[in-house]
Amino acid sequence: MQRPPCFIANWKMNLGVAAAKSYLMDLSKRCADNPDVAKIIIAPPFTALDAASSILKEGQPGIALAAQNVHFAPSGAYTGEISSEMLCETGCTYVIIGHSERRILFGESDEDIHKKLGALRKAGLLPILCIGETRQDRQAGKTWQRLNGQLTAVLTDDLLESGLADTVADWMIAYEPVWAIGTGETPEPEDVAEVHLQIQALIAETVGKGAPRVLYGGSVSEKNIADFMKTPGIDGVLVGGASLSPETFFKIIAQGAKAK
Ligand code: 13P
Repeated sequence: MQRPPCFIANWKMNLGVAAAKSYLMDLSKRCADNPDVAKIIIAPPFTALDAASSILKEGQPGIALAAQNVHFAPSGAYTGEISSEMLCETGCTYVIIGHSERRILFGESDEDIHKKLGALRKAGLLPILCIGETRQDRQAGKTWQRLNGQLTAVLTDDLLESGLADTVADWMIAYEPVWAIGTGETPEPEDVAEVHLQIQALIAETVGKGAPRVLYGGSVSEKNIADFMKTPGIDGVLVGGASLSPETFFKIIAQGAKAK
């Protein structure tokens, strides 16, 4: 049976507690008539997770919550960091790891992301694992080399054998070309689909059980959502800027689900 497409809102460092509450009340109402056609995940900033969780419990069980980051240790002297156990307490189901903004602006390495994946497994949280090539990678014809490196660095045998492989069908892998994020530039949907096929083939080869959803992210909008979603192999989208208004994000969900 085909799984419903997935739409993730990554608010990044936007929308505080009050704004998050009114956004989610608005989105819940809009989604009420639209059950089960889409899987919807919202990733607010840490400070709004608790309030978001209360609203979603009351209003719209079909919307899940993700954190935008996590530290790999369960607790300890890591000033300013948040552990996976703490995220579980706030009602998160997913955590975004490996986002290019974390890799590039905050110097996160593949090794850090590997440790974070291990922490998520221990806590029972699911990854939204982001990978993506830079413009230089693409111009040098090294897109797959980059993505392959980012995936194989985290999908190590020790982690997979520790139980991680059993959850892979519930993962989200987000292919986000760095040059498409926040720029208005996007790759052709057919090119994205080809990359997604390669990702699924690599996962099948290394993990061997279950296929994750593979999503596209980078300048997704009301204008281009239908083209992406009607393309086979694109199981959903990870939306930044265009997810900041519940009205626009809902249009993306409705048009995207229809195009699938
Ligand atoms: P934009 O949709 O703003 O390009 O951001 C994409 C992104 O980084 C989502 O994680």
